[in-house]
Amino acid sequence: MIGTINGKKVEFSKDQTVLEVARANGHFIPTLCELADLDHTPGTCRVCLVDIKRRNDVNHRIVTSCTTPMEEGMAVLTRTPKVRQMQRLQVELLLADHNQDCASCVRHGNCELQDVAQFVGLEQTRYNYPEFYERRTRDYSSPSVVRDMSKCIRCFRCVKVCREIQGIDALVITQKGLETEISVRDHLPLNESDCISCGQCILVCPVGALAGRNNIEDAMDLIYNPELITVVQFAPAVRTAMGEEFNMAKGENVEAKMITALKRLGVDVVLDTNFAADLVIMEEGSELLHRLKNKGTLPMFTSCCPGWVNFVEKNYPEMTPNISTTSSPQQCLGAMAKTYLAEKMDLDPDRIRVISIMPCTAKKGEAQRPEFQRNGRPDVDVVLTTREFSRLLKREGLDLAKLEDSQFDNPWMTDYSGAAVIFGNTGGVMEAAVRTVHKLVTGNELDAVEYTDLRGDALRREATVDLGPALGEVKLAVVHTLKEARRLMDEIKSGNSPYGFVEVMACPGGCQGGGGQPRSKHSYHGTARERSQGIYNIDKNRTIRQSHNNPMIKRLYADFLKKPLGHKSHELLHTTYRDRRRRINHSMHEIWKEIEERS
Ligand code: SF4
Ligand code: SF4
Ligand code: SF4
Ligand code: FES
Repeated sequence: MIGTINGKKVEFSKDQTVLEVARANGHFIPTLCELADLDHTPGTCRVCLVDIKRRNDVNHRIVTSCTTPMEEGMAVLTRTPKVRQMQRLQVELLLADHNQDCASCVRHGNCELQDVAQFVGLEQTRYNYPEFYERRTRDYSSPSVVRDMSKCIRCFRCVKVCREIQGIDALVITQKGLETEISVRDHLPLNESDCISCGQCILVCPVGALAGRNNIEDAMDLIYNPELITVVQFAPAVRTAMGEEFNMAKGENVEAKMITALKRLGVDVVLDTNFAADLVIMEEGSELLHRLKNKGTLPMFTSCCPGWVNFVEKNYPEMTPNISTTSSPQQCLGAMAKTYLAEKMDLDPDRIRVISIMPCTAKKGEAQRPEFQRNGRPDVDVVLTTREFSRLLKREGLDLAKLEDSQFDNPWMTDYSGAAVIFGNTGGVMEAAVRTVHKLVTGNELDAVEYTDLRGDALRREATVDLGPALGEVKLAVVHTLKEARRLMDEIKSGNSPYGFVEVMACPGGCQGGGGQPRSKHSYHGTARERSQGIYNIDKNRTIRQSHNNPMIKRLYADFLKKPLGHKSHELLHTTYRDRRRRINHSMHEIWKEIEERS
């Protein structure tokens, strides 16, 4: 089919919108609510206006390009005076109903509304109606996600991602017209709702209406307190994503520069969560074998994703015995820093504070779980996301791209295997576990350490591992996104699951796509491939690629823990889970109100 855009001939196929054809042919049209990666075109923001003239029309019309199909013979104009004026007015109206504290907004500099305001040439805002936006909800109840609906532009991207990617459906559209608001289902505070704190909604929010909880000042209070010994760890997936915040190459490994940055900040001890990932494999792999040998609860689920743990506790509490009792790498490192490291370095454990840098918003809640408090103090004191750590460095005038490289210098808890770093990708925990479990059972290393059946983008991947005559073949499954996890759980509950061991990561692509990672404008996981490949490249280049061969892990067991699943491990590295199902009784009045709100 053929039409024109700004006088230039364009070819297109049936079912393409004006916006899609314009983009394919290099004509820029501003957008705000639309998000192609989610196939999301609610048509609510109306900033993508264009002038069209259909083949048989006499008159021109102004339409939203994201919802209008391109037609044979259609002539589209994107920059007429009327289009520009109407786009400008539309942005003014959006701002009139928007809390404009841009200078202090978490999204400052990364805000898609600021961008469109610049694009349409807005020089001043004539309208401002605080009486509308100030009565909207501000919800600080969650340790992970902050909701400030005074900034919401009602693009509904968050509703879509929570419902269709995660299958959680915690967010709903309530009211109508000017009163329209994104609410939490059943009007609950977020921390009491079905939300599992994954932060995926934050990644798609074009403005500062959804944000991670800000703990930067808490971290600074610890780092700049001379009475305290600050220990910082950073997770596998952070190092191939953080460079994006400093205009570095996508997927570049910035581990060495992060060490320099932390030293410049005055952090006392820099550790690597990868070390603890190797430790988790030793404990979790041994736990799997113990369950297989002793007819324990199967399938065993991985436990390192707190979004997933939240999901099971809130939706399938009867299946918490299936979750490995091994704590996550973040928590294992915290526990080891305040015991083993304190002993080795002759430090007063009461003065040690652990800060984590994580790709994850749910890790903030994990660190606050009562199960991870010991002698009145948490194993991990403060959790920063990758985005927060980037903001902290910028506040301190540190440009990661310009820093020199440094190496880890702590001799106790920094070495890691290639198996540890792939924890950052979906399938990585399972692949790492297979490398070690095979050795534990057969006494031999795997011929090929890269278990490609477990890699890839498919929401569920399967493989079978042969664990010898005594244990036989064990069927493995790797799942990412909670929508797929729910499908799997329902299969297991109905007795239709062949699996012995299941890895679940809440976020698409695993932690590299975590809700605390750098976000890209107009894109959902646009850099996933590079981040993921960066992680696999680190694994490929490590001399040691199996957790059980990490010399620092061997020394930890020899000097302190003695053996996997031993007494000290149980005390420090294993945890318990709870039934956190939401119990809510609706009155007929409430049910009727919801029906009205949805209609
Ligand atoms: S954090 Fe995750 S579960 Fe919670 S509202 Fe956002 S997308 Fe939904
Ligand atoms: S909270 Fe953000 S993502 Fe959700 S509708 Fe509002 S602006 Fe859009
Ligand atoms: S997949 Fe990773 S980033 Fe996402 S919730 Fe789980 S642990 Fe956090
Ligand atoms: S981008 Fe088209 S209406 Fe929002």
